[in-house]
Amino acid sequence: MSKEYTIAVIAGDGIGPEVVTEGLRVLERVAAIEGFRVRTTSYPLGAEHYLKTREIFPDQAFEEVRQHQAILLGAIGDPRIEIGLLEFGIIARLRFELDLYVNLRPVRLYAEHLCPLKDKTPEDVDFIVVRENTEDAYAGMRGFFKKGTPDEVATQEIIFTRKGVERVIRYAFDLARRRGRAKKLTLVDKANAVRAMDLWTRTFEEVGREYPDITRDHAYIDAACMWCVKNPEWFDTVVTSNMFGDILTDLAAMIQGGLGIAASGNLHPGQVSLFEPIHGSAPKYAGKNVANPLATVMAVSMMLDNLGEARAAARIEDTVAGLLRSRRIPSLGSDSGLGTRAIGDLVLENLEQKAAV
Ligand code: IPM
Ligand code: MN
Repeated sequence: MSKEYTIAVIAGDGIGPEVVTEGLRVLERVAAIEGFRVRTTSYPLGAEHYLKTREIFPDQAFEEVRQHQAILLGAIGDPRIEIGLLEFGIIARLRFELDLYVNLRPVRLYAEHLCPLKDKTPEDVDFIVVRENTEDAYAGMRGFFKKGTPDEVATQEIIFTRKGVERVIRYAFDLARRRGRAKKLTLVDKANAVRAMDLWTRTFEEVGREYPDITRDHAYIDAACMWCVKNPEWFDTVVTSNMFGDILTDLAAMIQGGLGIAASGNLHPGQVSLFEPIHGSAPKYAGKNVANPLATVMAVSMMLDNLGEARAAARIEDTVAGLLRSRRIPSLGSDSGLGTRAIGDLVLENLEQKAAV
């Protein structure tokens, strides 16, 4: 009997369902080629479900979702609904309650012409960001005092725990070692202004002593944004806090060609993990067959890699890279001239020919 993987699918809002449909077609095909099976279960969560039922993420559904081997998510967010309600109720709930403490975001340029930076090649843009995924301002310790009055006070705590910081830093050191590239880990923080980040400085130093083969590097977040544009080749593996990682990776997505390709994995090593494109629900493109599904396709690749299907993951990545290099998929935006479905078709047609590594 071939292996079977159970996948929970939350297509979500806006362009989510369209891009997830293409991601799932690629998943099915690669499974057939590589000889394993997938059993997917869809959970119709998101804005439509909320408007119909007032349910955000019923506990029963949550319990079911976590029983799967992996979760694939499209996008969450809808302008008809209070900002943050679904984002927190669905994405953040999964990240927190499944304790997905690593948000892994590869930044890889597949074809030189996709890079908006002058004279930067695929060798120059190839790093990975390890974003802490369970703490920081995202922990939601917030409140309003005297709301709506001239004396209003609004707070939201930036929290870091020794355990939370240490485990993500350790993961990043291990990853830098596994990547075996420059064997360099850059800590990105703002310890000069947010003094609570001294915890990151000290933990990085202490854990780093256990990894004498990995060069330790540091940049403040503002400078890291600058280096990302000026000298992206200086980065190999980057570790940072939740909010800085969120911001830095949207910028980094642009130097790899755009949000149309940027994927992420929300991981708890050894446990059920969640894979999603970095982009949002892009309501203005919803239902128009213009959204680029490659970020979701790459999220499927990351998911397979995490499940231990490295060959299938590489097959997808190689296929996408080939289509971009040959310009058969000419750009990563909604202006590629190819619809969502047509891009999915191209990936499907070329999966077979790719010699798996
Ligand atoms: C991301 C998104 C989320 C985040 C939003 C939707 C809450 O921007 O995954 O990067 O800020 O983490
Ligand atoms: Mn983001």
